[in-house]
Amino acid sequence: MIVVTAAGGPTGTAVVRELRARGESVRAVVNRRGPRPELTALGAQVVVAELTQPMAWSKVLAGADAMYLIWPNFDPDEAEGAPALFAEARRARLPRLVYHSVLRPQLRVMPHHAAKDQAEEALDASGLPSWRVLQPCAYADNMDAQLPAVRGSGVLRSYWGLRTAQSLVDLRDVAAAAAVLLTEDGLDSGTFEAAGPEALTAPRLAELIGARLGEEVVADDVIPGGEMPTSYAARCRRTMFDHYRAHGFVGSPRVLTDLLGRPPRTFAEHLADLDLADLEPLA
Ligand SMILES: NC(=O)c1ccc[n+]([C@@H]2O[C@H](COP(=O)([O-])OP(=O)(O)OC[C@H]3O[C@@H](n4cnc5c(N)ncnc54)[C@H](OP(=O)(O)O)[C@@H]3O)[C@@H](O)[C@H]2O)c1
Repeated sequence: MIVVTAAGGPTGTAVVRELRARGESVRAVVNRRGPRPELTALGAQVVVAELTQPMAWSKVLAGADAMYLIWPNFDPDEAEGAPALFAEARRARLPRLVYHSVLRPQLRVMPHHAAKDQAEEALDASGLPSWRVLQPCAYADNMDAQLPAVRGSGVLRSYWGLRTAQSLVDLRDVAAAAAVLLTEDGLDSGTFEAAGPEALTAPRLAELIGARLGEEVVADDVIPGGEMPTSYAARCRRTMFDHYRAHGFVGSPRVLTDLLGRPPRTFAEHLADLDLADLEPLA
């Protein structure tokens, strides 16, 4: 049985789906009580637990072969909370832990990268018998929410400029890599990048989206204004787009290709699998 945290988020749900498709039993950890039709329909056992408050995880981890530790996005408690969870996992004698990090956590100008860098450092010293790290690039799926508006307007809003590129990775490929790290031998103490196969600028994304929608789409540079925000989440978002604008966020697909045993999906393949009916223009 495999425990997956932040299971109700996009990453967690994708990992639960992949593990269930491979026949693994899954305990899906969420924060709020209430029905979870998407997770229960996948056949996961849903449990409620709190990541950010100290608590014993022996019950959540009872009988588990492994845990996939995903920290909620842009959450200020990751740098301290993830190491505390590693210690709980060790106390509970968890056989294996896989940590969901990010490509280049050492880019400390982005607080959420810095937090993951600190967590990775703590994992190295955790004393856990088996640990692995997955470092995904930005997901291709991040674009999906914008597509209905793109369809209505013919404009892709780029908060990261028009010049630099990202190696967007399909979340299904990230989830498949996570499943490999959770279940296969010979990968202990390894850190694995998960980047898509192409370096995509906003104008190139607009071109590919336009081809999928059958209409012209142009990329518009949305330049951020005002001071650096003070809230943690807004600061993460702003520093992230500032960094992408200046340097892009590009990685090599080689490691992911090796984990998957095939090349990761292209952005065109990602778009091809979306249902156009879900992309009706926003009213
Ligand atoms: N998006 C990308 O391109 C990208 C790329 C690389 C890495 N990542 C990393 O992927 C990770 C996951 O991102 P995501 O957007 O999939 O996650 P997310 O949507 O932020 O995760 C939400 C889930 O976390 C649970 N949760 C929130 N606060 C909690 C708490 N205090 N205790 C326990 N559970 C809590 C929520 O529970 P409820 O369902 O009960 O609300 C929900 O199930 C992040 O660390 C992010 O940095 C993202």
